[in-house]
Amino acid sequence: MQTLTLTQPDDWHLHLRDGAALQAVLPHTVRQFSRAIIMPNLKPPVRSVADAAAYRDRILAAIPAGKRFEPLMTLYLTDNTDPAEIIAAKASQFVKAVKYYPAGATTNSDFGVTDIRKCDRVFEAMQQVNMPLLLHGEVTDKAVDIFDREQVFIEKHLIPLKQRFPHLRIVLEHITTSDAVEFVLGNNNIAATITPQHLLFNRNILFKGGIRPHFYCLPILKHEAHRRAILQAATSGNAKFFLGTDSAPHGRNSKETSCGCAGCFSALHAMELYAEAFETVDAIDKLEAFASFYGPDFYQLPRNTEKITLTKTTWRIPDEVPFAESGLVPLRAGEEMTWQMA
Ligand code: NCD
Ligand code: ZN
Repeated sequence: MQTLTLTQPDDWHLHLRDGAALQAVLPHTVRQFSRAIIMPNLKPPVRSVADAAAYRDRILAAIPAGKRFEPLMTLYLTDNTDPAEIIAAKASQFVKAVKYYPAGATTNSDFGVTDIRKCDRVFEAMQQVNMPLLLHGEVTDKAVDIFDREQVFIEKHLIPLKQRFPHLRIVLEHITTSDAVEFVLGNNNIAATITPQHLLFNRNILFKGGIRPHFYCLPILKHEAHRRAILQAATSGNAKFFLGTDSAPHGRNSKETSCGCAGCFSALHAMELYAEAFETVDAIDKLEAFASFYGPDFYQLPRNTEKITLTKTTWRIPDEVPFAESGLVPLRAGEEMTWQMA
């Protein structure tokens, strides 16, 4: 039987939610990953070190008995974030990054930044104390086509930001375009996370035989040429590209409705999905570094030492898994997978 033994991976972009939803999804992530960067877009968002400490305690309390998992916390940047909070975040040791959402860009982003220049004093502090900035890199301008929001963000906001703060360490999250790949390759102090859905699917899947809400996430899936570009980046062995699932659970009721939420749930089978994507280009040998080395290297944390095993075998992804108010439909629900994590 074909098996694959890898250093235990980490998830560098994860939504765990709170309360009953947190209880439901955390065991899936704990089964696959040793650590995760926890997104702060709760309602209300995690804006202070005190908020992050309390949320971290709730996560720790939800870890299944006998398991180990380290939540790496983030703060949600707003127009009003005080540079002093950055200093406090650095001192806390458990806050590892600050997340920028443009106001209105995605789920629970109402508190997001209205104009990125308003945060320059905060970026100055972050650059000074070596606190990474995580970017949801999309513009929200209604005149910009939804498929162009990443490119326009890079041109209008990221290039000027890099010029103002060349030493600020940045992660361009969940990249979806060749433009993002090129920007990351061409600049220092910037890396990118890549999700399984953006490696496996182009935008056609959103409309295959009808409208398919469980493939709707933000940034939205793109043209096949972009999918190929990010798959090439992920499998290139370049340390600037690493794993971040962006697993973003929403109950079935919130997805299968007239105005469905953005987000794909992949925590159940993330490593299997990445393995399949890498295998399509014969790059399974590049999976370990993408999943387990380059993330901790960027975050200046030690690599994990434990191992996981993936086995070549066929199994069916469940139609749904238990969640809070209604069931949770995993990415590619009901389909067969060819790798399985032990
Ligand atoms: C995320 C969510 O649901 O919190 N949704 C998504 O489509 N990725 C928010 C985000 O990261 O954009
Ligand atoms: Zn996200």
